[in-house]
Amino acid sequence: MAPADPPPPSLLRLRPFLFVVVLLLFLLPITAHARQLYVNNKQLDCYATNDFSTLGYSCAAADVAAAGPNSCNSYLTFRSQTNYQTPAAIARLLRSDSAAIARINGVADADPIPLNSLVIVPVDCSCTGGKFYQSNTSYVMKNNRETYLTIANDTYQGLSTCQALMAQNPDHDSRRLVVNLELVVPLRCACPSLNQSAAGAKYLLSYLVTWGDTIGDIAAKFDATKQVVLDANNLNTSDTIFPFTTILVPLKTEPTKLEVIPSPPPPPVAESPAGGEGEGEGGSGKRPIIVGVGVGAAVLVLLSGFLAVWFVSHRRRRRRFYQEEEGGKSLSKSSPPPHQKMLDSLTVYAFEDLEKATGSFSEERRIKGSVYHAIINGDSAAVKRVKGDVSSEINILKQVNHSNVIRLSGFCHNEGSTYLVYEFAEKGSLADWIHSAAAQKELSAGDHLDWTRRVGIACEIADGLNYLHNCTSPPYIHKDLKSSNILLDGEFTAKVGNFGLARPAAEEDGASAQLTRHVMGTQGYMAPEYLDHGLVSPKLDVFAFGVVLLELLSGREAVYPDSAGEGKRDCLLSAAVAGVLSGEDVREKLKNFMDPRLQQEYPFSIAFAMAQLAMRCVAEDPNSRPNSGDLLVALSAIHRSSLDWDPSNLSHSGSISDDF
Ligand SMILES: *[C@@H]1O[C@H](CO)[C@@H](O)[C@H](O)[C@H]1NC(C)=O
Ligand SMILES: *[C@@H]1O[C@H](CO)[C@@H](O)[C@H](O)[C@H]1NC(C)=O
Ligand SMILES: *[C@@H]1O[C@H](CO)[C@@H](O)[C@H](O)[C@H]1NC(C)=O
Ligand SMILES: *[C@@H]1O[C@H](CO)[C@@H](O)[C@H](O)[C@H]1NC(C)=O
Repeated sequence: MAPADPPPPSLLRLRPFLFVVVLLLFLLPITAHARQLYVNNKQLDCYATNDFSTLGYSCAAADVAAAGPNSCNSYLTFRSQTNYQTPAAIARLLRSDSAAIARINGVADADPIPLNSLVIVPVDCSCTGGKFYQSNTSYVMKNNRETYLTIANDTYQGLSTCQALMAQNPDHDSRRLVVNLELVVPLRCACPSLNQSAAGAKYLLSYLVTWGDTIGDIAAKFDATKQVVLDANNLNTSDTIFPFTTILVPLKTEPTKLEVIPSPPPPPVAESPAGGEGEGEGGSGKRPIIVGVGVGAAVLVLLSGFLAVWFVSHRRRRRRFYQEEEGGKSLSKSSPPPHQKMLDSLTVYAFEDLEKATGSFSEERRIKGSVYHAIINGDSAAVKRVKGDVSSEINILKQVNHSNVIRLSGFCHNEGSTYLVYEFAEKGSLADWIHSAAAQKELSAGDHLDWTRRVGIACEIADGLNYLHNCTSPPYIHKDLKSSNILLDGEFTAKVGNFGLARPAAEEDGASAQLTRHVMGTQGYMAPEYLDHGLVSPKLDVFAFGVVLLELLSGREAVYPDSAGEGKRDCLLSAAVAGVLSGEDVREKLKNFMDPRLQQEYPFSIAFAMAQLAMRCVAEDPNSRPNSGDLLVALSAIHRSSLDWDPSNLSHSGSISDDF
């Protein structure tokens, strides 16, 4: 085309628009980078590589002229969920300090927080690689269905993004995530910019948007003004905010306990206008669902029909993308998302179906005692036949819902027996793994209970126990905790099972001294006050848990034959530990006490701390035993240190193993 040729008339008409567009496109990145950018629902688009806002809050964006500080104290928010319901559990997930969470939120370390309450979590935030502010934590994959998106959105509720996870775990391809893999999780936090500091802000809090939130509501929760919050996120009253994204809120003082009111259930409309508060348009709830259109795009759309066409096709492309992401699920969020309830939905099975599922209760399907392996609709399950009344076990299990308590899926009555159908624990019981010779064969096959795994299991049992004692209503006492009642699933996640003897704990402190004349339990695990006086309290379970800890440490059974003494004499593990940890040569004695199958591969000081904890659990006086909340906190710390020690831990280089 010769330079003198006039452009076609249609283009001529568009020229002013194009000019504005180009100008805007040119200006946008600059103005946008002046403040932190809102992710604007782009966090769902895992494979869109070029969006800066999804990778984290920029360290350089804080102010154009001067970069912000390198690190600071900051705050995250998190909504308590079934497996992350206590300050201790949340601290473990987000690598924070449980005592600080407890203090700020006005609860005790191991107390359950009502589900779905907004919890404030202090973290250290620092600038990584000169680019993004973040607070690091790590996450060990729990099952093979997890993806970067579910980890970022479901587990971390939007505190991280799939894009940031992918960028910071370059060795782990998103299609090859496997269970037990440990991932670095960058959590979205930021430090105040110079302007924000000048305006009196000391901290930034990463608020997690939920259904129905408006910027006005969010600001009001933290005594900030709406404009300050809009500015901090480079938002504008007409912008839309989305659930499971973070909004930065500048704070002048340390935040304090919020009202512990669980968030409302999701309303039928997915997005909430940033402005809200009724100003502007009439039908505020009727806002068109604009998925993932950036601030810039919203402005551009208004400019010309040409752009509207571009926008529509752009949007269509994005929509198609989401549908792929979500496995074809419709994006229209007119139905509320599924909730974790459905507890009352136990299946009542027909006896014929269970017969079919267990090959008529054949010998080869028998796992142990009256427990059979069943295949129901292609899934494995365990079916236990029980004679007599099991209504109490059914009633308890149908109310509990925790990943460290065995799940009952249904039952069936037939000819005076009840058949209970449980989730299948592929790896059998903990007792099998630490005591039986059969499991030792598998040791050589690679799967074995090494130190870190043992500590992880201990921590999970404590989590399950704390849930039963402190998070259910009414609280329950298991009364028969022992290693053969701890089941391990395919990923070695511990599940407390067999609730045959479990019962509700007494209502209030005053009545906590329940008495029973029917002392039932297993020798070696029963607490002295129960054996002697039939006294029942949650401290029974703590005693038994102490014995399980000692089994994990020593590999011995709760009652074991004493090899040293002449003649055969049975020793109680619970009694033996005091001798090991007192007197002289504790180091040598403990080394001899430890399970030889660990082959000295354990951090001595951590093992010592765990043995001391076990000893406190088996104290004569129930009042001097820790409660299950204390146990969870202590074992979480022990687990964390063990992960740091573990030479096979992915986040360290292999050279550490030389030290041990
Ligand atoms: C910082 O504050 C000054 C004065 O209030 C203002 O002119 C400037 O635009 C602000 N900078 C940013 C990045 O917000
Ligand atoms: C956080 O993790 C990233 C990625 O692994 C790493 O580069 C960075 O140094 C870590 N930051 C801190 C403060 O540990
Ligand atoms: C994000 O998580 C929430 C809560 O678990 C869920 O309702 C929502 O569907 C998830 N979003 C995506 C895109 O997976
Ligand atoms: C806010 O958005 C409106 C229209 O969407 C636009 O006219 C205005 O310039 C925007 N303001 C800012 C500060 O971005």
